[in-house]
Amino acid sequence: MRIEMAKRIDQIPPYLFAEIDKKKEEMRKKGIDLIDLGIGDPDLPTPKPIIERLKKAAENPKNHRYPSYEGMIEFRTAVAQWYERRFGIRLDPETEVLSLIGSKEGIAHIPLSFVDPGDIVLVPSPGYPVYRVSTLFASGTPYFLPLRKENGFLPNVSQIPESVAKKAKLLFINYPNNPTSAVAEKSFFEEVVDFARRYRIIVCHDAAYSEVAFDGYHPLSFLQVEGAKEVGVEFHSLSKTFNMTGWRIGFAVGHSEILAGLGRVKTNIDSGLFQAIQEAGTEALNHFDTPLPEIINIYERRRDRMVKGLRELGLELDQPKATFYLWIQVPKGYTSGQFATVLLEQAGIVATPGNGFGEDGEGFIRMALTVDEKRLNEALERLRGIRF
Ligand SMILES: Cc1ncc(COP(=O)(O)O)c(C=O)c1O
Repeated sequence: MRIEMAKRIDQIPPYLFAEIDKKKEEMRKKGIDLIDLGIGDPDLPTPKPIIERLKKAAENPKNHRYPSYEGMIEFRTAVAQWYERRFGIRLDPETEVLSLIGSKEGIAHIPLSFVDPGDIVLVPSPGYPVYRVSTLFASGTPYFLPLRKENGFLPNVSQIPESVAKKAKLLFINYPNNPTSAVAEKSFFEEVVDFARRYRIIVCHDAAYSEVAFDGYHPLSFLQVEGAKEVGVEFHSLSKTFNMTGWRIGFAVGHSEILAGLGRVKTNIDSGLFQAIQEAGTEALNHFDTPLPEIINIYERRRDRMVKGLRELGLELDQPKATFYLWIQVPKGYTSGQFATVLLEQAGIVATPGNGFGEDGEGFIRMALTVDEKRLNEALERLRGIRF
């Protein structure tokens, strides 16, 4: 029997990291020692008290049953309290907080709740690939907002044509930003709220990296801007904040009707988040003040080492204030893909070509600071040995 994929799948390129994984596997089979700066998956362990709480919670038979769809009230209350401590924002845990099986899950599902065939979704380029794919799964049309260096990698919403804005249902934004590591200030969020209000567009702010910031900088929540809660929601994740990528726990907060809409899709697709993990997540949010210095100090040292080292090699990049990504301009004469291939084949270094995050990422590569300093020093050493 010939197996045919749905058109919906055919129109989607293979998930960016799946392709890179394939290439890496080929190199590894050849016995090459790769330094993998490709994927933003923290190499540091989850803090002990969180693990201890999971162990205990896993023993409790109450936690072996189906969880509630929206999340345990204890977890949602911990989210609301963390929000108030961290951002000074009050949230109703009953209606303004929704648990997610990682923020990717919520981002992937939200267009199904609000986008009809032919509707436009405003998607940053470069951007986290899920914004575009989730739009396509919902039969929406992505309209790409270029993030340019000269604009501080912020989209210029005032340049969106009126005809596009009128057909747009959702706008994705993400600060601190993956892949560019840019941050946004209040004035940008205010502009977004104005724009969203004018055209009645739902804003989805992805704040997965809000707690990975350096030099004492504390990224803002989108909801700190007046009127934001009337137009949008914010996605958060415990993944990067507490080194918990494998646990799959995140949440969305903000406009109660938007969250209820997302919840309706979720009730038909998933059955909530393992309660023992929610208990561990509650422990994480209640027990720690974020950002966690023991995590941040390590990334900060890695960042300083790499930014200095790469600049000495003649590469151009900004020193990030947040995220564990370096967004590096490729040297003249190379495309992103060509330069990533040179790094892989000549130095055994995995970096992500910028165009994998969208056309406007061309001209850059992304490196993730998720390996230890010794390996980063080795990466710099290897780079010194190649000519580009
Ligand atoms: C910008 C951004 N948003 C969301 C996510 C998803 O994180 P998680 O599903 O682990 O919460 C990631 C993961 O890398 C990301 O880079």
